[in-house]
Amino acid sequence: MNTIDRTAMRLKLDYNNMMRSALLPDGFTADELKALPMAEAVRKVNEKRGNMKWRELPHNQAEIVEKIKETAAWVRRDAEYFVVLGIGGSALGPIAVQQALSHLRYNDLPKEKRQGPKFYVLDNIDPETMQALLDVIDIDKTVFNVITKSGSTSETMSQLLIVVDLLKKHFGSDISAHLIATTDKEKGNLIKIAKKEALTTFVVPDGVGGRFSELCPVGLLPAAVCGIDIEELLSGAAYMDELTSSEKAETNPAAVMAALQFIAMQKGKNIHVMMPYADSLKYIADWYAQLWAESLGKKTACSGAVVHAGQTPVKSLGVTDQHSQVQLYTEGPFDKVVTFIGVEKFRAVTPIPEGYPEIPDVHFLSGHTHNELIAAEQAATEYALTKSGHINYTITLPEVNPFTVGELLYLFEVATAIAGELLDIDAFDQPGVEEGKKATYALLGKPGFDEKRAELAARPAPAPEFILN
Ligand code: PA5
Repeated sequence: MNTIDRTAMRLKLDYNNMMRSALLPDGFTADELKALPMAEAVRKVNEKRGNMKWRELPHNQAEIVEKIKETAAWVRRDAEYFVVLGIGGSALGPIAVQQALSHLRYNDLPKEKRQGPKFYVLDNIDPETMQALLDVIDIDKTVFNVITKSGSTSETMSQLLIVVDLLKKHFGSDISAHLIATTDKEKGNLIKIAKKEALTTFVVPDGVGGRFSELCPVGLLPAAVCGIDIEELLSGAAYMDELTSSEKAETNPAAVMAALQFIAMQKGKNIHVMMPYADSLKYIADWYAQLWAESLGKKTACSGAVVHAGQTPVKSLGVTDQHSQVQLYTEGPFDKVVTFIGVEKFRAVTPIPEGYPEIPDVHFLSGHTHNELIAAEQAATEYALTKSGHINYTITLPEVNPFTVGELLYLFEVATAIAGELLDIDAFDQPGVEEGKKATYALLGKPGFDEKRAELAARPAPAPEFILN
C-alpha cells in the first residue's frame, strides 16, 4: 500500500437505522444481535480459510500481477477494442470494477483520453447483441479475453467458437495476438484449446469459485487493460481481510452485515435491496446480486435438513429508482432490507448555477451542487424508510477508488461466507445452476447426456389450452 491512507479510506457501516427499527413490532433489538453466535461464525469461517482460496487472493499474487501488467501493456499498445467473453462470475466482476473505476463514459472518450482500448463484455448469447458487437469492433484491432473457470460453459464456448472462426478467417492459423484465455489450469476444454492455439493463458486458482473470482486474473486482467490500478484494488481487499478476520465480531463489518441480514431473514425479510447512490457503483449491485443469490440460495443445509434458504437480492440505484421503486420500499410489504451505499466525495463536483429567482421552487436549488443534492436525497430516503418502519442500513465509501472498491468487494465476499455459516449452508456450490447447464447440454445433444435428454423428453407436454396465439 503506497498511495492511500488506509484509515482515511475505511468504509463505514452504519446500522443505526436498523437498530432504530427496534421500536417496531418486527424490528431488531440489540439483544437479538448479541444473542447470535457471530464470533463463532467468524471463527468457523476463519478455520475453513484453507478451503477458501479466494481469501488469499489479496496476498499471494505478486508474480501474477506482474504478468497481468505485462500482458495489459501489450494489449493497451496494440488494441483498440478489448472484449471479454464470459458469463456469471466470469463477467459480472469485470463489468462492476470497470464501471466503478474507469471514466463513466470511458468508451465514448477519444483514444488519447482513455486509459486503454474500448471495453466490452459479452455476457449473453442474444444473437442481436453478438452481431451488434461485431458491427462496432474492428477485428484487426481487437483482443478478446475468454474467461471460464470450468472451461465448459455453453454460452462462453459458443462465443469462443464464433470468435475463433472469425479470427482464423482474418489471420490464418495463428490467432494468439488476438485471444487470451483465463481458465482452470487443467480442468475443462478451454485449457486444451488455449494450448492448441498457443494462447497467453491466465489461471483461475483452485478453490476460487466464479463469483469469488474477481480479485484473480478473471477481474484483474480486464481492469489492468482499462488502466485501473490493480495493486491498489488488492491492497483494499487485504485491508478488509484484516478487519473481517477479527473474531471481535461486533466490530467486524462482515460479521455485523451477515448477522443483520440473518436476523432479517429469520423475520421473513426475504428481499435484500442493494441501492448505491452512485452511478459508478451500479454494477457492484449487479455483481453482489449474483454473490448473495447463488451463494445463499440453497435447498439443503449442511445438516441435511431441507431449508430452502436464501434472500432475493434486488439491485436498485439512487436516485434513479426513487422515482421507480422507493414507493414500494416505503409503503409496501415489510419483506425487505435496504442497504444504501453512499459516497462521501465524488470525483467531480457539479455546481448548480443561479437561475430563475422569480420561481422559488426552482431557485432553491441554485447555489447548491449535485453532490449536495444526491447526499440530501440519500439521507431523505433513509429517513423515509426508517420512519415508515422499513429496516435499512448504510455503507459509506469515503470515495470511489481502487482501494475502496477492493474493500467493498472483499467485505461482501466475507459477509456472504459468514451468512452461509449462520444459515448452515454451503455458500460455495451452485447445484441449481449446474442443473440448468446439464439440461442445456442435453437439449443441444452434448455427448454423455442421454439420460438427462430422456428425463427432459419425459416432462409433461405443454397443454394447448394454456397457450394463447
Ligand atoms: O459462481 C459461479 O460459479 C457461476 O456463476 C459461474 O461463474 C458461471 O456459471 C460461469 O461459469 P464459468 O466461469 O465456469 O464459465
